Amino acid sequence: MKIIHSVEEMKSSTHATRRGRRSIGFVPTMGALHEGHRALIRRARRENDQVVVSIFVNPAQFGPREDFTQYPRALSKDLALLKQEKCDVVFIPSASQIYPPEFSTWVDVPACSASLCGKFRPGHFRGVATVVAALFQIVQPTRAYFGLKDYQQCRVIDRMVKDLQIPVRVVACPTVREPDGLACSSRNRRLSKRDREEAVKLYQALYLGRELIEQKIMLDSGRLETRLKQVLSQIPHCRIDYIAVVDPVTLAPMRKIRRPAVLAAALWIGKTRLIDNVVIS
Ligand code: PAF
Repeated sequence: MKIIHSVEEMKSSTHATRRGRRSIGFVPTMGALHEGHRALIRRARRENDQVVVSIFVNPAQFGPREDFTQYPRALSKDLALLKQEKCDVVFIPSASQIYPPEFSTWVDVPACSASLCGKFRPGHFRGVATVVAALFQIVQPTRAYFGLKDYQQCRVIDRMVKDLQIPVRVVACPTVREPDGLACSSRNRRLSKRDREEAVKLYQALYLGRELIEQKIMLDSGRLETRLKQVLSQIPHCRIDYIAVVDPVTLAPMRKIRRPAVLAAALWIGKTRLIDNVVIS
């Protein structure tokens, strides 16, 4: 497994792979790898000749009062997992390589960025789209793998790739869950034991919501959201950012629920923000 820190070295590695007509499967990450990342890497391994994983905690996607400095970092464990998964190249650039002092180009995808998390994290998706566009230029992947737990992120990246004609196939992969249903996330490590036990209620609320929609018991999103907020408010130290039913492509809110739809939620448990969603197809 090759570890690359420099952008120039990463580009030469890419060119060599592409010259040899070998496909590149790319998994961009911010490290603190978990089973969700493992599933993305395994799929990239199955579908490509070479697997590249990047580890970069992207400062541009954190707001000034967000958890950039507290975001979990676990490089040696990450490298062990990547070795185990037979990753070919790990790209670990520094912030100054990605954002040199003269950096001044931003990628904004307003159509998909305004609702859901975008409302609560202004600038977040601009930071995500910009770094992913830059990483795509450097790694030039054939396919890039993202987890559907970050549903809105997948939509933003999909739109960006289409609009900017970026020659990469975006592969959105199912959410991987802990045995009790909690979606795998690097931020789960920040939950105390008690909060971790409570966090599963997020999935339980979404699961209940899906049942209520599928059984056609509640097809008015206002009523459904009120019902699910009652479930979530049982979590101690919980603050709900949103729970909403949206169109799976435009992410526009749905008043009368039609299918397909996405039921998505974000909430804080103590100082940790968790997101999750279920697709109702
Ligand atoms: O999903 C993530 O870990 C990040 O948002 C990503 C896609 C690596 C961009 O920094």
